[in-house]
Amino acid sequence: MDKFVIRGGNPLVGTIRVSGAKNAALPAMAASILTEEPVILENIPDVRDIETERRLLVSMGAEVELGYGRAHHRTTLCCRKLVNPEAAYELVKTMRASTLVLGPLVARMGRARVSLPGGCAIGARPIDLHIKGLEALGARITQDHGYIEASAERLKGGSIFFDKITVTGTEDLMMAAVLAEGETVMENCACEPEVSDLAALLNKMGARIQGAGTPTIRIQGVDKLHGARHRIIPDRIEAGTFVIAGALTGGDLMVAHCEPAHLGALLEKLQQCGVNIRTNGDSVRVIGEGPFAACDMATQEFPGFPTDMQAQYMALATQAEGISIITENIFENRFMHAQELVRMGANIRVEGPRAIVRGKTPLSGAAVQCSDLRASASLVIAALVADGETILDRVYHIDRGYERIEEKLRSVGAQIRRIGEMFPRRAAAS
Ligand code: UD1
Repeated sequence: MDKFVIRGGNPLVGTIRVSGAKNAALPAMAASILTEEPVILENIPDVRDIETERRLLVSMGAEVELGYGRAHHRTTLCCRKLVNPEAAYELVKTMRASTLVLGPLVARMGRARVSLPGGCAIGARPIDLHIKGLEALGARITQDHGYIEASAERLKGGSIFFDKITVTGTEDLMMAAVLAEGETVMENCACEPEVSDLAALLNKMGARIQGAGTPTIRIQGVDKLHGARHRIIPDRIEAGTFVIAGALTGGDLMVAHCEPAHLGALLEKLQQCGVNIRTNGDSVRVIGEGPFAACDMATQEFPGFPTDMQAQYMALATQAEGISIITENIFENRFMHAQELVRMGANIRVEGPRAIVRGKTPLSGAAVQCSDLRASASLVIAALVADGETILDRVYHIDRGYERIEEKLRSVGAQIRRIGEMFPRRAAAS
């Protein structure tokens, strides 16, 4: 298993480039199920979750062509022949987003068999809202041997109200409704930029979706979709991770190829903490002139502060003067990084959905473990400012969603290296 060895103390200086958004690329790949024609996606990040989704689609009969060389981040997907509308447990258990194929499979093939995701490191994460929504569109759902089976002759437009805001739920049902007969109105939808990006792709494929990015989405079903070409939006979570790393290390970092409009709540909060930030077009420049002031933060659905940035913000809070109360409103049990940060010298007390961080405490390098994707990013950030060497174990979590993070950070001055990799990553993943 790979590890990172990180020596703290270097400011991050220079320009770091943001990859395409994993969370926009995953539903976009699933959308290719909806047509027999090729879908060409650009700016696809080279991360492990994308590889998992590729394997999932290939197991159903899709042809997936990965770009090489200059077209490295382009992927062409063609679902001309789909033979096996099933998402097996082996794939779903490593990536819950595999459930994104449920809606498109029922819409295109009239049936789907998808493993239930089971528990997840950051909470229960059920899929009841996906199921309820599909039923509202006329699908019959049964559950057997840990699998959900859904079937329908043709889905019929209907009304869906989400009791709770769900990102992949909104995306899954949007993909189901585009080929349904008649109109679907979905209310209390997720407004995340990844939902809007998926709607933009689907509309290029011939769908008729209005209102994506707002709580109410209206979809007029069509009989058929066609191929399209689409560029995935930049990864706002990767961008935010670099902004915090730049600030905390006292660097002068240009985070390039991002979309500052998607980072609003985060940048505002960092400015309240005293971080010097300037946005310009598609880049954010961060100058880390401390000291930083403690600020309370609560995660919310977009446009609120993203839960996927909570762990990284906690790393910053350990270095801010005063008490920061961090409230996690989206997932239960998403504070696994707190104990690891404490092992590095942080003063954090977790009380239910709140973490109380007292700063500033010096951090010192230690052997720590990644527990999930974003927790890992917070430990990398902490290690970059810790005294001495940190050994970060289980970095496969970070590889799920960050493209070669160690190479990117090294290019702007970080002392970070990967150990234990026996084969090149692309070969190992296939
Ligand atoms: C997506 C993101 C993830 C991010 C999360 C919240 C992808 C691939 N992943 O995950 O990075 O952290 O949004 O911004 O885009 N819920 C239910 N029933 C359901 C579905 C969800 O109760 O059927 C609950 C969940 O347990 C959670 C909340 O709703 O408490 C939000 O989850 P959701 O938005 O669905 O997260 P994901 O789409 O899985």
